[in-house]
Amino acid sequence: MEEAKHICVYSGSAHPKLSQDIAAYLGVPLGKVHPTKFPDGEIFVQFEENVRRADAFLIQPTCAPTNDNLMELLIMIDAAKRASAARITAVLPYFGYARQDRKDKPRVPITAKLVANLLTVAGANRIIAMDLHSQQIQGFFDIPMDHLYARPVLAPYLKQVLGPDPVVVAPDSGSAKMAMSYGDVLGGGFAVVAKRRINATTVASSHLVGDVRDKVCVITDDLTSTAGTLCAAARILKENGAAKVYCAVSHCLLNEAGKQKLLATPEIEQIVTTDAVPQHDDLGGKIKVVSVAPILGEAIRRIHDGKSVSSLFYINH
Ligand code: R5P
Repeated sequence: MEEAKHICVYSGSAHPKLSQDIAAYLGVPLGKVHPTKFPDGEIFVQFEENVRRADAFLIQPTCAPTNDNLMELLIMIDAAKRASAARITAVLPYFGYARQDRKDKPRVPITAKLVANLLTVAGANRIIAMDLHSQQIQGFFDIPMDHLYARPVLAPYLKQVLGPDPVVVAPDSGSAKMAMSYGDVLGGGFAVVAKRRINATTVASSHLVGDVRDKVCVITDDLTSTAGTLCAAARILKENGAAKVYCAVSHCLLNEAGKQKLLATPEIEQIVTTDAVPQHDDLGGKIKVVSVAPILGEAIRRIHDGKSVSSLFYINH
């Protein structure tokens, strides 16, 4: 690999505002690339400036439209590689297709591994991701990966609204580790809800382990899509005497039905989330958005300078 000379930040179509904010944090102009589509739907990408020997960071959360955003990122990587970028880092503030990360039924795919393979074969030399659905996905890559956390960005606001002795709640067993890491920062107690997924849009929360009576609770999760998990968990917390319920979610992917469900769930005070994926509507204050541009920008700067990234896990604690 040629020695990388300068940082170049490029945005895919998924989230230009976040890319712009990251570039502003770094004090560099956003690079010139304009992904477009042919009339038949094929994606076309051309870098409209010299990319040779660039340390290129391609920013694209693979949120909805997931397939288009993923394909566009792969095509951008291919174009950057053929334009002789010295190093190509795919920055996925949200890594889609991550929930299918194991073969837990017969004849199903492991899409998280498939996407890891696609990114690598396209030509990515390094990956930056944030709050992957499961930590093990890091091992699906044989190229360097920096896994960042939204927790240091969300924690200061959470501390303000939750007060001194909250209960951090995992809405299912898979989220227990994440909830414990929030507990390390926020203090207070810990509880976990037993969740059963009935189908892609319906979940049932059946049991609560932990004492939440008269407590302000915060449910922590990597993502919400239909709001089913959060609403079911909030309901069981209220049934068990919780005073207030907040949610801290790294990636708020609510579809229209999810938004309506959240609005119809008075048990949830607010979802606190990030701009890792575009957020167009705060639903009258029901959604609070904190920016992850500084943490992504700082990670990019440190990677370019060959400095440690791990200290970013602890800022603002
Ligand atoms: C599941 O394991 C994830 O961490 C989320 O809890 C889940 O994907 C959220 O989906 P929904 O909002 O549709 O319940």
